[in-house]
Amino acid sequence: MRLGTLGAVLVGMAGCGGGGGYGGPGGMPGGDPNMPMTATFSSIQTHVFTPICSACHAGAAAPQGLKLDAANSYMMLVNVASAEVPSIKRVAPGDSANSYIVQKIEGHAAVGARMPFGGPYLDATTIGLIRQWIDNGAPR
Ligand code: HEC
Repeated sequence: MRLGTLGAVLVGMAGCGGGGGYGGPGGMPGGDPNMPMTATFSSIQTHVFTPICSACHAGAAAPQGLKLDAANSYMMLVNVASAEVPSIKRVAPGDSANSYIVQKIEGHAAVGARMPFGGPYLDATTIGLIRQWIDNGAPR
């Protein structure tokens, strides 16, 4: 593990979790995989996009040009039109119901399969945190 001084910093954040309560004195974004997932972009990246979605959604052959690795995901999602249904944004800040990524992970998008493609699908809690992040305005 690479948790040296980082571990000491995280101890001070142990009370966080839940909606938007992250961000210790050092501005740690809550992206540690050993911490429970929260409704923040970095936590979603660490718990969902990187380990699950970027297995397919990365590199030049990323489906629909959607890269979900940490270097690309935010700018490819927020306020970007979906490729499959261009009238709907992948992430529409403040409007999870009309965000294509939500329709894809809930399995009722107009085009294509439920994500992650072939499953196993995300549980309701995880989907709820992603919706909450979007409804909070999808902050970075
Ligand atoms: C096993 C490979 C695979 C995995 C894992 C996967 N996807 Fe996909 N994704 C695809 C393929 C293939 C398509 C295009 C076909 C379709 O939509 O069914 C797609 C399409 C999409 C689209 C539509 C993009 C657009 O602009 O129209 C979104 C959004 C999406 N995926 C999100 C996700 C998310 C979020 C995850 C992780 C929770 C994920 N995918 C995991 C293969 C995958």
